Amino acid sequence: MNYENIIVEVNGAIQKITINRPKQLNALNKATFAELESALNEAHNNFDVKGILITGSGEKSFVAGADIKEFADFTPEQGEELSLNGQRIFKIIENSPKPVIAAVNGFALGGGLELAMSCHLRVASDNARFGQPEVSLGVTPGYAGTQRLTQLIGKAKSLELLMTGGMIKADEALKLGLVNYVVAPEELENKVNEIFGKLLKQSPVAITGVIACVNAYFDYDKDGFATEANEFGKCFATEDFKEGTTAFMEKRKANFPGK
Ligand code: CAA
Repeated sequence: MNYENIIVEVNGAIQKITINRPKQLNALNKATFAELESALNEAHNNFDVKGILITGSGEKSFVAGADIKEFADFTPEQGEELSLNGQRIFKIIENSPKPVIAAVNGFALGGGLELAMSCHLRVASDNARFGQPEVSLGVTPGYAGTQRLTQLIGKAKSLELLMTGGMIKADEALKLGLVNYVVAPEELENKVNEIFGKLLKQSPVAITGVIACVNAYFDYDKDGFATEANEFGKCFATEDFKEGTTAFMEKRKANFPGK
Protein backbone atom coordinates (compact mmCIF):
# COMPACT_ATOMS: atom_id res chain seq x y z
CA MET A 1 0.00 0.00 0.00
CA ASN A 2 1.20 3.51 -0.78
CA TYR A 3 0.92 5.63 2.30
CA GLU A 4 -0.08 9.29 2.16
CA ASN A 5 -1.13 9.96 5.74
CA ILE A 6 1.41 7.89 7.63
CA ILE A 7 5.12 7.12 7.30
CA VAL A 8 6.20 3.53 7.83
CA GLU A 9 9.85 2.70 8.50
CA VAL A 10 11.42 -0.53 9.65
CA ASN A 11 14.54 0.13 11.75
CA GLY A 12 16.06 -3.21 12.76
CA ALA A 13 13.34 -5.14 14.60
CA ILE A 14 11.10 -2.11 15.12
CA GLN A 15 8.41 -0.88 12.76
CA LYS A 16 7.83 2.82 13.26
CA ILE A 17 4.48 4.26 12.22
CA THR A 18 4.31 8.05 12.13
CA ILE A 19 0.90 9.66 11.75
CA ASN A 20 1.79 12.31 9.19
CA ARG A 21 -0.79 15.07 8.80
CA PRO A 22 1.10 17.82 10.64
CA LYS A 23 -0.96 20.65 9.14
CA GLN A 24 -4.03 19.09 10.79
CA LEU A 25 -2.05 18.25 13.94
CA ASN A 26 -2.17 14.60 12.79
CA ALA A 27 -5.95 14.33 13.22
CA LEU A 28 -7.22 10.87 12.29
CA ASN A 29 -9.41 10.78 9.21
CA LYS A 30 -10.82 7.70 7.48
CA ALA A 31 -7.89 7.37 5.07
CA THR A 32 -5.39 7.53 7.94
CA PHE A 33 -7.24 4.77 9.77
CA ALA A 34 -7.16 2.55 6.67
CA GLU A 35 -3.43 3.12 6.29
CA LEU A 36 -2.82 2.50 9.98
CA GLU A 37 -4.64 -0.82 9.76
CA SER A 38 -2.59 -1.82 6.74
CA ALA A 39 0.69 -0.86 8.45
CA LEU A 40 -0.29 -2.89 11.51
CA ASN A 41 -1.00 -5.91 9.31
CA GLU A 42 2.42 -5.47 7.69
CA ALA A 43 4.08 -5.43 11.09
CA HIS A 44 2.17 -8.48 12.27
CA ASN A 45 2.98 -10.46 9.12
CA ASN A 46 6.69 -9.64 9.17
CA PHE A 47 8.46 -12.17 11.40
CA ASP A 48 11.49 -9.92 11.71
CA VAL A 49 9.44 -7.10 13.24
CA LYS A 50 9.42 -7.56 17.02
CA GLY A 51 7.93 -4.28 18.13
CA ILE A 52 5.86 -1.36 16.87
CA LEU A 53 6.41 2.32 17.63
CA ILE A 54 3.57 4.78 16.99
CA THR A 55 4.20 8.52 16.99
CA GLY A 56 3.05 11.76 15.37
CA SER A 57 4.79 13.97 12.85
CA GLY A 58 6.24 17.31 13.95
CA GLU A 59 6.97 18.70 17.38
CA LYS A 60 3.55 20.00 18.30
CA SER A 61 1.17 17.09 18.19
CA PHE A 62 1.01 13.34 18.60
CA VAL A 63 -2.59 13.21 17.36
CA ALA A 64 -5.15 15.98 18.04
CA GLY A 65 -8.10 13.61 17.78
CA ALA A 66 -10.55 12.35 15.24
CA ASP A 67 -10.81 14.63 12.21
CA ILE A 68 -13.57 17.00 13.31
CA LYS A 69 -13.96 18.46 9.83
CA GLU A 70 -14.65 15.01 8.40
CA PHE A 71 -17.43 14.04 10.81
CA ALA A 72 -19.08 17.45 11.29
CA ASP A 73 -22.05 16.55 9.03
CA PHE A 74 -22.45 12.92 10.01
CA THR A 75 -25.78 11.26 10.83
CA PRO A 76 -26.13 9.17 14.03
CA GLU A 77 -25.66 6.01 11.95
CA GLN A 78 -22.46 7.34 10.39
CA GLY A 79 -21.27 8.42 13.84
CA GLU A 80 -21.79 4.95 15.28
CA GLU A 81 -20.06 3.38 12.30
CA LEU A 82 -17.11 5.77 12.72
CA SER A 83 -16.87 4.82 16.38
CA LEU A 84 -17.05 1.07 15.72
CA ASN A 85 -14.37 1.27 13.04
CA GLY A 86 -12.02 3.28 15.28
CA GLN A 87 -12.64 0.92 18.19
CA ARG A 88 -11.96 -2.07 15.92
CA ILE A 89 -8.61 -0.72 14.72
CA PHE A 90 -7.50 0.33 18.20
CA LYS A 91 -8.36 -3.19 19.40
CA ILE A 92 -5.95 -4.52 16.76
CA ILE A 93 -3.28 -2.42 18.47
CA GLU A 94 -4.30 -3.48 21.97
CA ASN A 95 -4.35 -7.15 20.96
CA SER A 96 -1.20 -6.88 18.87
CA PRO A 97 0.98 -9.96 19.45
CA LYS A 98 4.00 -7.64 19.27
CA PRO A 99 4.57 -4.91 21.86
CA VAL A 100 3.37 -1.47 20.77
CA ILE A 101 4.79 1.71 22.33
CA ALA A 102 3.35 5.18 21.78
CA ALA A 103 5.89 8.01 21.68
CA VAL A 104 3.63 10.92 22.60
CA ASN A 105 5.36 14.01 21.21
CA GLY A 106 2.75 16.73 21.86
CA PHE A 107 -1.05 16.96 21.93
CA ALA A 108 -2.76 13.62 22.57
CA LEU A 109 -6.39 14.68 22.54
CA GLY A 110 -9.63 12.79 21.96
CA GLY A 111 -8.90 10.08 19.40
CA GLY A 112 -5.19 10.84 19.91
CA LEU A 113 -5.30 9.92 23.57
CA GLU A 114 -7.48 6.95 22.63
CA LEU A 115 -4.80 5.83 20.16
CA ALA A 116 -2.06 6.22 22.78
CA MET A 117 -4.12 4.31 25.35
CA SER A 118 -4.60 1.38 22.98
CA CYS A 119 -0.81 0.95 22.87
CA HIS A 120 0.82 -1.27 25.49
CA LEU A 121 3.19 1.40 26.83
CA ARG A 122 3.33 5.19 26.55
CA VAL A 123 6.37 7.43 26.70
CA ALA A 124 5.64 11.16 26.62
CA SER A 125 7.76 14.21 25.95
CA ASP A 126 7.48 16.82 28.71
CA ASN A 127 5.56 19.14 26.37
CA ALA A 128 2.81 16.54 25.78
CA ARG A 129 -0.77 17.42 26.70
CA PHE A 130 -3.52 14.88 27.30
CA GLY A 131 -7.27 15.18 27.30
CA GLN A 132 -10.64 13.99 26.09
CA PRO A 133 -12.15 17.30 24.93
CA GLU A 134 -15.12 15.69 23.15
CA VAL A 135 -17.71 17.18 25.53
CA SER A 136 -16.63 20.61 24.30
CA LEU A 137 -17.75 19.51 20.82
CA GLY A 138 -21.05 18.08 22.02
CA VAL A 139 -20.06 14.43 21.65
CA THR A 140 -18.89 11.62 23.84
CA PRO A 141 -15.53 9.98 23.08
CA GLY A 142 -15.89 7.36 20.35
CA TYR A 143 -12.68 5.37 20.14
CA ALA A 144 -12.99 3.73 23.57
CA GLY A 145 -11.72 6.67 25.61
CA THR A 146 -14.42 6.14 28.23
CA GLN A 147 -13.30 2.54 28.64
CA ARG A 148 -9.51 2.65 28.47
CA LEU A 149 -9.12 5.89 30.43
CA THR A 150 -11.18 4.37 33.24
CA GLN A 151 -9.12 1.18 33.10
CA LEU A 152 -5.85 3.12 33.25
CA ILE A 153 -6.51 5.86 35.82
CA GLY A 154 -9.68 4.79 37.68
CA LYS A 155 -13.26 6.03 37.65
CA ALA A 156 -12.95 9.29 39.60
CA LYS A 157 -10.10 10.86 37.63
CA SER A 158 -11.41 9.42 34.37
CA LEU A 159 -14.84 10.99 34.89
CA GLU A 160 -13.22 14.28 35.82
CA LEU A 161 -11.15 14.40 32.63
CA LEU A 162 -14.03 13.16 30.47
CA MET A 163 -16.66 15.50 31.91
CA THR A 164 -14.52 18.66 32.11
CA GLY A 165 -12.89 18.05 28.74
CA GLY A 166 -9.77 19.58 30.31
CA MET A 167 -6.15 18.99 29.39
CA ILE A 168 -3.42 17.74 31.70
CA LYS A 169 0.33 18.07 31.40
CA ALA A 170 2.77 15.20 31.06
CA ASP A 171 3.86 15.25 34.71
CA GLU A 172 0.27 14.86 35.86
CA ALA A 173 -0.29 12.07 33.32
CA LEU A 174 2.73 10.33 34.83
CA LYS A 175 1.34 10.71 38.36
CA LEU A 176 -1.99 9.28 37.24
CA GLY A 177 -0.32 6.27 35.61
CA LEU A 178 -1.54 7.33 32.19
CA VAL A 179 2.02 7.25 30.82
CA ASN A 180 4.99 5.10 31.73
CA TYR A 181 7.71 7.73 31.36
CA VAL A 182 8.15 11.44 30.68
CA VAL A 183 11.35 12.68 29.06
CA ALA A 184 12.66 15.76 27.25
CA PRO A 185 11.44 15.92 23.63
CA GLU A 186 14.91 15.19 22.24
CA GLU A 187 15.11 12.08 24.45
CA LEU A 188 11.77 10.62 23.41
CA GLU A 189 12.92 8.18 20.78
CA ASN A 190 16.01 7.16 22.79
CA LYS A 191 13.79 6.26 25.73
CA VAL A 192 11.46 4.22 23.53
CA ASN A 193 14.45 2.43 22.00
CA GLU A 194 15.85 1.76 25.46
CA ILE A 195 12.56 0.07 26.44
CA PHE A 196 12.43 -1.89 23.21
CA GLY A 197 16.04 -2.93 23.88
CA LYS A 198 14.89 -4.56 27.12
CA LEU A 199 11.86 -6.19 25.50
CA LEU A 200 13.85 -7.56 22.56
CA LYS A 201 16.04 -9.57 24.92
CA GLN A 202 12.98 -11.49 26.13
CA SER A 203 11.02 -14.28 24.50
CA PRO A 204 8.69 -12.87 21.83
CA VAL A 205 6.26 -15.75 22.31
CA ALA A 206 6.13 -15.16 26.06
CA ILE A 207 5.58 -11.43 25.50
CA THR A 208 2.67 -12.26 23.18
CA GLY A 209 1.25 -14.46 25.94
CA VAL A 210 1.63 -11.73 28.56
CA ILE A 211 -0.28 -9.27 26.34
CA ALA A 212 -3.11 -11.80 25.87
CA CYS A 213 -3.31 -12.52 29.61
CA VAL A 214 -3.38 -8.88 30.70
CA ASN A 215 -5.96 -8.01 28.04
CA ALA A 216 -8.11 -10.92 29.25
CA TYR A 217 -8.43 -9.16 32.62
CA PHE A 218 -10.40 -6.40 30.89
CA ASP A 219 -12.43 -8.68 28.62
CA TYR A 220 -15.74 -9.67 30.20
CA ASP A 221 -16.02 -12.64 27.85
CA LYS A 222 -12.80 -14.13 29.16
CA ASP A 223 -11.58 -15.67 32.38
CA GLY A 224 -8.14 -14.10 32.87
CA PHE A 225 -6.98 -16.89 35.15
CA ALA A 226 -7.95 -19.54 32.60
CA THR A 227 -6.27 -17.51 29.85
CA GLU A 228 -3.11 -17.33 31.93
CA ALA A 229 -3.04 -21.09 32.56
CA ASN A 230 -3.62 -21.72 28.86
CA GLU A 231 -0.89 -19.29 27.73
CA PHE A 232 1.50 -20.73 30.31
CA GLY A 233 0.81 -24.25 29.05
CA LYS A 234 1.27 -23.24 25.40
CA CYS A 235 4.77 -21.97 26.16
CA PHE A 236 5.97 -25.49 26.95
CA ALA A 237 5.69 -26.44 23.27
CA THR A 238 7.79 -23.50 22.05
CA GLU A 239 11.42 -23.25 21.02
CA ASP A 240 11.68 -20.09 23.12
CA PHE A 241 10.85 -22.06 26.26
CA LYS A 242 13.43 -24.71 25.43
CA GLU A 243 16.05 -22.04 24.76
CA GLY A 244 15.16 -20.01 27.87
CA THR A 245 15.34 -22.93 30.27
CA THR A 246 18.44 -24.44 28.59
CA ALA A 247 20.23 -21.07 28.74
CA PHE A 248 19.38 -20.81 32.44
CA MET A 249 20.87 -24.22 33.16
CA GLU A 250 23.92 -23.54 31.01
CA LYS A 251 24.37 -20.21 32.86
CA ARG A 252 24.30 -18.12 29.70
CA LYS A 253 21.99 -15.52 28.23
CA ALA A 254 19.09 -16.85 26.15
CA ASN A 255 18.98 -16.18 22.44
CA PHE A 256 15.30 -16.59 21.66
CA PRO A 257 14.27 -17.80 18.19
CA GLY A 258 10.83 -16.18 18.65
CA LYS A 259 8.93 -19.40 17.94
N1 CAA B 1 -9.65 17.64 13.52
C1 CAA B 1 -9.46 18.35 12.40
N2 CAA B 1 -8.56 19.37 12.33
C2 CAA B 1 -7.86 19.65 13.43
C3 CAA B 1 -8.02 18.95 14.63
C4 CAA B 1 -8.96 17.89 14.65
N3 CAA B 1 -9.15 17.13 15.72
N4 CAA B 1 -7.20 19.49 15.57
C5 CAA B 1 -6.54 20.48 14.96
N5 CAA B 1 -6.93 20.59 13.66
C6 CAA B 1 -6.47 21.55 12.66
C7 CAA B 1 -7.06 22.93 12.87
O1 CAA B 1 -8.36 23.00 12.36
C8 CAA B 1 -6.07 23.78 12.13
O2 CAA B 1 -6.31 23.65 10.75
P1 CAA B 1 -6.46 24.95 9.80
O3 CAA B 1 -5.11 25.60 9.89
O4 CAA B 1 -6.77 24.37 8.47
O5 CAA B 1 -7.54 25.78 10.41
C9 CAA B 1 -4.74 23.08 12.42
O6 CAA B 1 -5.07 21.75 12.78
C10 CAA B 1 -3.96 23.71 13.54
O7 CAA B 1 -4.80 23.75 14.68
P2 CAA B 1 -5.05 25.07 15.55
O8 CAA B 1 -4.90 26.28 14.70
O9 CAA B 1 -6.33 24.90 16.27
O10 CAA B 1 -3.80 25.00 16.55
P3 CAA B 1 -3.72 25.61 18.00
O11 CAA B 1 -2.29 25.52 18.41
O12 CAA B 1 -4.38 26.95 18.06
O13 CAA B 1 -4.60 24.62 18.93
C11 CAA B 1 -5.36 22.49 19.69
C12 CAA B 1 -4.18 23.30 19.11
C13 CAA B 1 -5.63 22.93 21.13
C14 CAA B 1 -4.91 21.03 19.71
C15 CAA B 1 -6.62 22.68 18.80
O14 CAA B 1 -6.26 22.44 17.46
C16 CAA B 1 -7.75 21.79 19.15
O15 CAA B 1 -8.46 22.03 20.12
N6 CAA B 1 -7.99 20.74 18.33
C17 CAA B 1 -9.12 19.86 18.49
C18 CAA B 1 -8.87 18.90 19.64
C19 CAA B 1 -10.12 18.04 19.84
O16 CAA B 1 -11.20 18.52 20.14
N7 CAA B 1 -9.95 16.71 19.68
C20 CAA B 1 -11.04 15.77 19.82
C21 CAA B 1 -11.63 15.48 18.46
S1 CAA B 1 -13.13 14.59 18.55
C22 CAA B 1 -12.67 13.01 18.80
O17 CAA B 1 -11.51 12.65 18.87
C23 CAA B 1 -13.83 12.05 18.93
C24 CAA B 1 -13.49 10.65 19.20
O18 CAA B 1 -13.16 10.28 20.30
C25 CAA B 1 -13.70 9.66 18.16
